[in-house]
Amino acid sequence: MKLSLKGKWVLITGASSGFGAAAAKSFGAEGAKLLLGARRVDRLERVAEESRSAGAAAAHFHHLDVASTPSVEKFIAWAKGILQDPEARVPGPALHVLVNNAGGAHGVETVADGKDADWEAMIQSNVLGLLRMTRAALPLMPRDAGATIINIGSVAGHTAYEGGSAYCAAKAGELQITRALRLELFGSGIRVGTVDPGLAETEFSLVRYKGDAAKAKTVYEGTYPLTAEDIAETLVWIASRPAHVNIDELIIKPVDQAAIGKVFRRT
Ligand SMILES: NC(=O)c1ccc[n+]([C@@H]2O[C@H](COP(=O)([O-])OP(=O)(O)OC[C@H]3O[C@@H](n4cnc5c(N)ncnc54)[C@H](OP(=O)(O)O)[C@@H]3O)[C@@H](O)[C@H]2O)c1
Repeated sequence: MKLSLKGKWVLITGASSGFGAAAAKSFGAEGAKLLLGARRVDRLERVAEESRSAGAAAAHFHHLDVASTPSVEKFIAWAKGILQDPEARVPGPALHVLVNNAGGAHGVETVADGKDADWEAMIQSNVLGLLRMTRAALPLMPRDAGATIINIGSVAGHTAYEGGSAYCAAKAGELQITRALRLELFGSGIRVGTVDPGLAETEFSLVRYKGDAAKAKTVYEGTYPLTAEDIAETLVWIASRPAHVNIDELIIKPVDQAAIGKVFRRT
């Protein structure tokens, strides 16, 4: 039977835009309670408001930089304070869903031309950030109650492409961390899986091209990419499977993308 998310606490990293913001609204529509983190707090405030309008039983937000252990610890201390609020009347660990979504790509340079700052940012957010958040949040998650960790990977974690070395490495790292965690949590009843999207229109390309909107637009020209809502719906579906069901690994691509670099364009 479908597991109800009504009144359950859901923590989403990278909730200020794209998949994370859409996920906040989709989990909100299920009546979940939300803990939202990202660096752009003004954006989080708007997402929290929209999530409440969508039906969220609560929506709290706090600054979070997953690239910094002190920031992750501060965020989790804040989250604990909310989860342990006696008015919340939830005894014991209460975090039902953790969505490790914060991340992205920086630059499209080859290895020969790669920039340290870009490489470091990608490994920090997509790999170390995921590890830090999971380590900090795990003690808040109940055993044997259908609690779920969903990591956001990418088709880039499965297939290498020119100009994608560090991003592909980071998402391959995400995939292997997910697999290791699945083994480590064996017997705990805590579910772990990865959702690995292909081309999706969010702020992803704008960030990758460092704010160059014209270049970012060309990525999606003439084709039908995934939307943030497509991914958000999938995350809700995963977390609402019956408690004995674990969706381990899911690759989702637009019909127009048969492989990385093989994108059908109508113009
Ligand atoms: N769009 C695609 O085609 C695609 C495909 C496969 C996988 N993905 C992955 O999906 C995830 C979400 O990306 P998106 O497509 O939704 O792009 P997006 O719109 O750029 O969203 C990225 C989110 O991550 C947050 N973030 C980045 N670095 C962070 C940090 N150090 N600390 C905290 N938050 C951080 C951003 O928030 P702040 O900037 O406010 O901190 C933002 O909310 C990423 O992991 C990305 O790699 C995207």
